Amino acid sequence: MDIRFLGHAAFTLSDGDATVLIDPFLTGNPKAAIAADDVHASAILLTHGHGDHIGDAVAIAKRTGAPTVAITELAHELGEEGIDVRDPNLGGTVKFDWGWVKLWPAWHTSTTPKGTVSTPAGLLINFKDTIIYHLGDTALFSDLQLVGKRNPIDVALMCIGGHYTMDRSDAVDAASLVGAKTVIPCHYNTFPPIESDAAQFKSDVESATGSHVVVLDPGQTHTT
Ligand code: NI
Ligand code: MN
Repeated sequence: MDIRFLGHAAFTLSDGDATVLIDPFLTGNPKAAIAADDVHASAILLTHGHGDHIGDAVAIAKRTGAPTVAITELAHELGEEGIDVRDPNLGGTVKFDWGWVKLWPAWHTSTTPKGTVSTPAGLLINFKDTIIYHLGDTALFSDLQLVGKRNPIDVALMCIGGHYTMDRSDAVDAASLVGAKTVIPCHYNTFPPIESDAAQFKSDVESATGSHVVVLDPGQTHTT
């Protein structure tokens, strides 16, 4: 399976058959690796309602017909645009041909550009039996350890940029709690307030935990 970093918190998971698109903030993202018109999706998954996560979701959903998974209140706002939505809440699982996605808590806020208030989430994804955990935007909190206890995690996609989320120092502890085989950092260096040193994060995590860190530039792919 290919995990492609599209910049900021956006990724695709693909096996050449299905493509899962996460948090497709491409238009207006100075680090976007692809244009919204060019990205493939058979499903779109959103962690929360901030503009740097919803991004181009509606336009991509309309073009591709891909269903969009988001927490209830956010899904209902997006559904008013005429796209196909799935509306779980925290703890809920949505099943697909390729696997499933489950919403876990994340400590953050979530108000959409249109003003809908909802609760942010992390996404635990089973994609063809590989377990990927996109933490969403979050601070460090101890319940991160519960996710891997329920489903041992192959790859964690983890914010490290600080200011709007945990910084790379807190993210070292998050990596320890999550216990993934591989950690891929994200949500850093997109804008000046979230500049971070991913090479130092890699060094610190690999010193302190059993996880391996793969640093991807926007556009690069990690193959599991
Ligand atoms: Ni956010
Ligand atoms: Mn964000």
